[in-house]
Amino acid sequence: MEKRHLPKSVYNWVTASGAALAVVSFALIALLLAIDVLAGRTSVYLGLLTFVALPSVLVVGLVLIPVGMVLAHRRQARGETTRFSRIHFDLSEPATRNATTIFVTGTAVLLVATAYGTYNAYRSTESVEFCGTLCHDVMQPEYTAYQGSPHARVACVECHIGSGADWYVKSKLSGAYQVYAVTAGVYPTPIPTPVRNLRPARETCEECHWPEKFFGGRQKLVPHFLPDEANTPYPISLLLKVGGANAQTGQVEGIHWHVARSNHIEYRAKDEAREEIGWVRLTRADGSAKEFRDPEGADAGAAAAVRTMDCIDCHNRPSHRYRSPNQTVNQAIAAGRIDRSLPYIKRRAVMALDTEYSDTTAALTGIETALRDYYKAEYADLAAQKSEAVDAAVAAVQGIYRTNFFPKMKVTWRQYPDHVGHSEYVGCFRCHGSNLQTAEGDRISSDCTLCHTILAQGGADAVPTQLAPGGLEFAHPEDIGGAEKETRCTECHHGGAELF
Ligand code: HEC
Ligand code: HEC
Ligand code: HEC
Ligand code: HEC
Ligand code: HEC
Ligand code: HEC
Repeated sequence: MEKRHLPKSVYNWVTASGAALAVVSFALIALLLAIDVLAGRTSVYLGLLTFVALPSVLVVGLVLIPVGMVLAHRRQARGETTRFSRIHFDLSEPATRNATTIFVTGTAVLLVATAYGTYNAYRSTESVEFCGTLCHDVMQPEYTAYQGSPHARVACVECHIGSGADWYVKSKLSGAYQVYAVTAGVYPTPIPTPVRNLRPARETCEECHWPEKFFGGRQKLVPHFLPDEANTPYPISLLLKVGGANAQTGQVEGIHWHVARSNHIEYRAKDEAREEIGWVRLTRADGSAKEFRDPEGADAGAAAAVRTMDCIDCHNRPSHRYRSPNQTVNQAIAAGRIDRSLPYIKRRAVMALDTEYSDTTAALTGIETALRDYYKAEYADLAAQKSEAVDAAVAAVQGIYRTNFFPKMKVTWRQYPDHVGHSEYVGCFRCHGSNLQTAEGDRISSDCTLCHTILAQGGADAVPTQLAPGGLEFAHPEDIGGAEKETRCTECHHGGAELF
């Protein structure tokens, strides 16, 4: 008989294939890890293979080793061979000693590797790349908008999960379902919002921003161009009363008054998107409360859950904003990416964007054809003279489409209202200036100076000419007979081509 270095029970097919699997997968893991370290940058796909798929194979291989040995022992016990009839463990035997050494060393190496692997699997599933690119088509709109947002350097998990083990586990449970939904192709398009069970904003946003920190005003210059032949500029300069609660003085004012610790605002929405609000209650620090109801549909929304107002009730799109054609074209003209001297370019660009296209390729061609055909037909001489300006305008409008429209996921600015402001979505006017009132008939104010003062508006150039610290009354660029004071802006404006 030949000399064996290991117990006889090791020499069977199951154990041998288990050992082979384990060795091969371990070698692959080591190789991939080396690539990972040398490349200095982890790819999500490689991470999944290195830290999830291969270790699973490794574990299966390792489990097969003792299974094969036990089976072999049973066969021996049944007398299929007579030499080993009971489990035999004697460290003085070289074969047993070898097996034990291999097993102990192997387990130690495996434990360290598993700890490292688990840590990396954790890191990998927390990475922006994992969240944003693994299910490429599904997350593409959110990921693209995110990259252009002020939070582009804040990881997805900072807002979607936050700190603490309980939310980590919750997120992985719902994540497991999402992986299934994507694999099985049963996910909804567009992805519905508000996100169910989103962690309360005060636990996530306030890791970095807190109400005591905001104080005073913030100047904002919003570019506008009229849809006329000259694309007349009509910039508006606002001083937004950001406000907040000052920890030292205790003073609470302005827009962030809603989230000061001394105020508690609750509401019930009539719809899933929280765009129609049916009931509001304000409770102050002294316990006094004020309830605003809808006098007509008194019970409207009564079935809906009461929600405490937090950051997300205004900043619902802090990092996934899909901007409207009107806003993006205004910005592109102001930035010089679209030449304002092209007649009617504002109107035509908005119209080209606010058109239904079957997919992105069709849209890019459609935009190009629409703009070129228009200038060829209406301004042939000028189009020839300014062919570079037309080329640049086409490219700029296509760029706007690529970063704000995602036909595959049915995502445009219309699907995701942004609650900050009131000129394209109802926003603040869901409560302010709505018909909600107290028993005494008090309403939530819509005074045009409650939230901002208009410092300057209009002017021949893109820089406002007059500056009025006391504030100006809003002059609507088109005479609409004072309707801008009586009705919501969204009665007419939706950010698309609806007014042309
Ligand atoms: C600054 C905080 C923040 C960051 C960072 C962030 N999100 Fe969001 N995300 C939100 C908020 C807020 C919502 C909407 C919540 C609501 O209305 O209920 C949202 C909604 C979503 C939705 C639901 C669909 C939609 O558009 O409303 C998806 C999907 C999503 N985020 C994915 C991501 C991914 C992927 C990343 C990283 C690439 C990311 N988020 C980073 C705050 C954030
Ligand atoms: C990990 C830190 C972090 C978290 C968490 C975070 N933010 Fe921010 N936020 C930032 C940074 C950094 C900026 C950029 C500051 C700047 O541009 O001056 C910013 C900017 C902003 C701005 C100003 C945007 C602008 O146009 O200037 C708003 C509004 C905002 N965050 C809201 C939120 C909300 C709402 C949440 C929770 C859903 C949140 N943030 C969570 C770090 C964070
Ligand atoms: C009632 C609606 C509302 C609520 C609630 C709200 N904000 Fe704001 N916030 C605003 C508006 C409006 C602005 C100014 C808008 C702009 O700059 O475009 C603003 C501005 C900000 C800015 C930029 C401040 C600056 O000085 O530049 C940050 C950061 C911010 N909010 C974070 C938060 C956080 C965090 C919360 C929750 C604790 C919160 N907001 C709650 C409406 C709100
Ligand atoms: C869910 C309803 C609701 C929404 C949405 C809402 N508010 Fe308010 N807001 C209130 C209530 C209630 C009051 C207090 C009214 C009162 O005291 O009679 C208030 C008061 C205010 C005040 C005065 C604070 C003070 O100093 O007394 C400002 C400024 C304000 N809101 C700005 C905004 C802005 C800006 C938005 C949109 C970004 C907004 N609100 C959205 C409910 C809302
Ligand atoms: C409850 C608070 C609130 C009230 C009341 C309010 N506004 Fe505003 N308004 C805002 C906020 C917030 C923004 C800025 C939105 C942003 O940051 O994009 C804004 C922006 C604007 C803008 C600039 C819009 C743009 O697209 O350039 C105009 C003009 C304006 N408001 C006019 C008015 C007029 C007129 C009234 C009175 C009928 C009024 N606002 C009442 C909160 C308010
Ligand atoms: C009765 C309908 C109506 C109402 C209400 C209305 N607008 Fe307009 N608005 C128009 C028309 C029509 C134009 C000119 C065509 C265009 O620009 O789309 C216009 C143009 C504008 C423009 C210049 C073009 C651009 O870049 O958007 C601004 C800014 C504007 N409106 C702001 C407002 C604001 C802010 C409110 C609410 C306080 C408001 N409008 C309410 C009908 C209306």
